[in-house]
Amino acid sequence: MLGIRNNVPIDSVEPGDVLSEPVFDSSGNILLPAGAVLTQRRLHHLRSNGITALRLADPEHPIERDPAPIDWHRFLRLRSFTETEIRNLSSRIDEKVRVGEEPVVRNHRSRIPTLPRDEKTLRRCWYQAVSLRRKAIEVCRDAFVRFAGGNQVDFCSLRDFISNFVSTGAENPIVFTAMLVLRSYDDQLVDQALRTALYSVLIGCELGYDEKTLCDLCEAALLHDIGMIRVRPRLWRRAEHLPLNERLEIQKHVLHGADILSQISETAFWTEVVAYQHHEHWNGEGYPRGKRGHGIAVFARIVAVADYFAGRTSPRPHRKPLRPYEAMRKILSESGQRFDPTILSAFLRAVGLYPIGSDVILSDGSTAVVLAADSRLPYRPVVLRKNSETIAPISLAEVPDIVILRAA
Ligand SMILES: [Fe+2]
Repeated sequence: MLGIRNNVPIDSVEPGDVLSEPVFDSSGNILLPAGAVLTQRRLHHLRSNGITALRLADPEHPIERDPAPIDWHRFLRLRSFTETEIRNLSSRIDEKVRVGEEPVVRNHRSRIPTLPRDEKTLRRCWYQAVSLRRKAIEVCRDAFVRFAGGNQVDFCSLRDFISNFVSTGAENPIVFTAMLVLRSYDDQLVDQALRTALYSVLIGCELGYDEKTLCDLCEAALLHDIGMIRVRPRLWRRAEHLPLNERLEIQKHVLHGADILSQISETAFWTEVVAYQHHEHWNGEGYPRGKRGHGIAVFARIVAVADYFAGRTSPRPHRKPLRPYEAMRKILSESGQRFDPTILSAFLRAVGLYPIGSDVILSDGSTAVVLAADSRLPYRPVVLRKNSETIAPISLAEVPDIVILRAA
């Protein structure tokens, strides 16, 4: 378990330790953010600013509690659309798709991630993940509550966070893995938004998107379901086996999302389009317009894959989550039907046949958890043995003697 070590004297702090809280100087200026990994130079910098003790991430104590889930009923503002409004909304989106410049797909990683090989580095990734997850929940929660309350969203902070989030994931996907393996946040909308953003960014990295494009994709993924704030929570918490009229009410979240986002000038170009199109299917059988193939923006096709996988691997009040391996099999069976085959293939390379976070049985009889995919060999990921005395990731691509027998 991961937690906090309070007020550790700075002389006892070692390079490699991770801050659990930001450090400020006497004027309130930030010296180092939460999650920063301490180095000799940074420790010297802190000492020279009069800092004598620090709060550090600690593996020995339980982590802090997550903030309470949002009471969505409190914010619910039902709104209906006239035929003209629906037509205008859909023409607006069509026009955006027509004039918008789709990001360039390079179909390869923009950079090769470096994987941690030792316990200390791995622990540091976990601390970073804990810290990033906490920040992510805080930022998303704040943005969602502001949207729901009709208040102005601080897009500057949101974009700052997204930029940090994306660069962390692009440089070190293990931090994203750790975030996915850490427990879910007990608020379906926020948790689903975060998980969808994580998977979307991993796909975007695999497609070779540059950092600016990844940030735009991440924003669109975080806000793709924002329209749900205008749908009765009772319905989206139990989105299956509903009568037709209630299913149609849920489906309107794509209109609400585009409507909400169309009123905000700071959003990235594709954010509104993704909110509107992320339930369209590659074969034309989705909603709201039954668009097909490349008539659906590529960001919407990516978020569709990420949203589906994140949803099926998360617990819901009416069903258990699928194991990642089962969800991967299910999503791959929809290639060319519901999902774009090119995006699915990037997803498979990014996440692996045994997706990150899966428990697997190895041919030497041990159980391991998948830490990272190896895009060269989707069935030979990087794993970490459970119940082993040493914490050392193993790249199965480099150890031909050991294979994965099955998902645990
Ligand atoms: Fe949705």
